[in-house]
Amino acid sequence: MTIEMSPADQAKFIAAKRATQYVEDGMRVGLGTGSTAAWLVRCLGEMVKNDGLQITGVPTSTRTADLAREVGIRVSTLDEVKWLDVTIDGADEYDANLNLIKGGGGALLQEKIVATASDQMVVIADVSKQVEALGAFPLPIEIIPFGWQTTKTLVEETLINLDVMGRSSALRLDRDKPFITDEGNYILDLHLRRIGNARQVSLVLNQIPGVVENGLFIDICDVIVIGHGDGTVELRDINNGTVTHDKVEIVDGDNLFSEF
Ligand code: A5P
Repeated sequence: MTIEMSPADQAKFIAAKRATQYVEDGMRVGLGTGSTAAWLVRCLGEMVKNDGLQITGVPTSTRTADLAREVGIRVSTLDEVKWLDVTIDGADEYDANLNLIKGGGGALLQEKIVATASDQMVVIADVSKQVEALGAFPLPIEIIPFGWQTTKTLVEETLINLDVMGRSSALRLDRDKPFITDEGNYILDLHLRRIGNARQVSLVLNQIPGVVENGLFIDICDVIVIGHGDGTVELRDINNGTVTHDKVEIVDGDNLFSEF
């Protein structure tokens, strides 16, 4: 069945397709979670099928693992592979220093572990994710279910001393029940509105008992590939300090308007 993609989806696809150039034969590749990362997995699946690309994928969620298997990517675990050449993942927000908010899809814990265990993290996004200061997108934190209401209170009290504009938090729900992560935990979404010092917020939140990890990715992303609906991409490399532009050619085999 063919479907028409929205401009936002086209931009995500373009970013994902360009990011496949960071993947080479024999690589161990961390596979992110979310709608942009899903395009990446599909593009890599096409390369496995059509070009004989041989990679080992380490997915960051059961959702991504299912999709990767479906499109023919060999899937392994971080424990088997231990270290990765590259991780490619989406983001909910990125700033000028390529610091990120992630976890909108609830997979931040595995995403952070996998990205940190990689030589390089490449983020793929459309330009709507770009912000001057992180925090408009609610910051997800993964918390242990035991005593979660106490943890929530502690988190909100801790935020009083931090450089943030908002301090309310909400337990993420899946219909009328708590959303459960792949690790069996809950997610609290922190409505901070503007984070003045993301590094400090990240460090302080992780000191609270009951908090497993937060969705701030500080100094983890190396490169961002920003896709546009017209096929152009901007690549920012934080280590080299370079910004380059490129155009992704859409060819018939890309199945741009097909449902995978
Ligand atoms: C998943 O937990 C998230 O970190 C996603 O990577 C992030 O939410 C981006 O998702 P989209 O690509 O769907 O916007």
